[in-house]
Amino acid sequence: MRFSARTGWELGENALTAKLRERRARGEEVLDLTVSNPTACGFLYDAAALLSPLAAPAALGYEPEPFGLEPARAAVSQYYREHGAEVPAERICLTTSTSEAYSYLFRLLCDPGDEVLIARPSYPLFDFIARLDSVSLREYPLRYEPGSSTASTHAWTIDFDALRAAITERTQAVVVVHPNNPTGNYASDAERDELEALCAEQGLVLIVDEVFLDYAIHPYVKPRSFAVGNGPALCFVLSGLSKVCALPQMKLSWIAARGPEDALRDALARLEVVADTFLSVNAPTQAALPSWLAGRDRLQTQINERVRRNLAMLDARLQGTHADRLALEGGWTAVLRVPREIDGQPFADAALDRGALVQPGEFYGLPPGRAVLSLLSVPEVLERGLKLLPID
Ligand SMILES: Cc1ncc(COP(=O)(O)O)c(C=O)c1O
Repeated sequence: MRFSARTGWELGENALTAKLRERRARGEEVLDLTVSNPTACGFLYDAAALLSPLAAPAALGYEPEPFGLEPARAAVSQYYREHGAEVPAERICLTTSTSEAYSYLFRLLCDPGDEVLIARPSYPLFDFIARLDSVSLREYPLRYEPGSSTASTHAWTIDFDALRAAITERTQAVVVVHPNNPTGNYASDAERDELEALCAEQGLVLIVDEVFLDYAIHPYVKPRSFAVGNGPALCFVLSGLSKVCALPQMKLSWIAARGPEDALRDALARLEVVADTFLSVNAPTQAALPSWLAGRDRLQTQINERVRRNLAMLDARLQGTHADRLALEGGWTAVLRVPREIDGQPFADAALDRGALVQPGEFYGLPPGRAVLSLLSVPEVLERGLKLLPID
């Protein structure tokens, strides 16, 4: 039997996963500091308020609208209006997940072997989506240069020289995650202008993943969506319920498009055929979307409070240790600078031997000596897990 080369993954267990499985099999406790599934972090979900809109009569009808049902798209439009952006429903395409949104865009823009630029470090999901769509990824680096404590809000910056150097005649798009996962940096206004100008000049499309947009660490910061304004590039902004409403199980995301009129019209006409081919979003979730988006504050408030509380706990724990935390502006993860090895073992392995699970930074394209942990963790678990880290 021959399978496609694109599914020829290395499916073996890595050393850390094997260690975790063995530890659990022995019945030894693991304090998992990597849990980023909001439905497993002890937040209060109002079951009646969230489930009743799924039973709306509209859920029983079938209207094969490629971009999704109008009331659902109007609710996304309203979400952007509340962020200061005018994105009419005609420019919104619903998908089942942000991953699917990427895949639609890769298929819209790329022939096999065409290239898309992504940041390093970033979320490893892209490797899989790109490979499944026969797209080649090229990386542009983010640099970490924390200034004084006040300047530390823009500690991570895009290396534009490297980004320009990575562009080839096969490059079709630049992906920006705003704020990035796991580094938690938003693109600054200056970076945004430069990205727009560069993409317009080089005929590239800008794909901006804003799933964590609403989770700024600082309570008074309201980060600007790329949907705001009318820059010169053709730009697709991605987001969805998995983060905006902390409802990953409901499987609903979207693409919001803006850009120069002709390119936008052509792009939307083609995207409509991609979406029409799959018609993947189910009616009950579309019927419920307006109610979920309108009530998003309930979960967002709990998450923002959790993240800030956990961050304070983490910083207190790191005082006077061999580890420190990199500056972050938003999102659900923290990156720690840790000893590369403890007694000849990689840091994450040594932490797991003591009973705490963290992710090795290499998983995200970070250099050795970095560990990533989730700020959604239940505080009691985080507190106990942090005590176990080999950093004293
Ligand atoms: C930056 C980023 N984009 C996209 C996704 C995937 O989102 P979805 O569940 O909507 O596919 C994630 C999931 O963690 C993510 O971190």
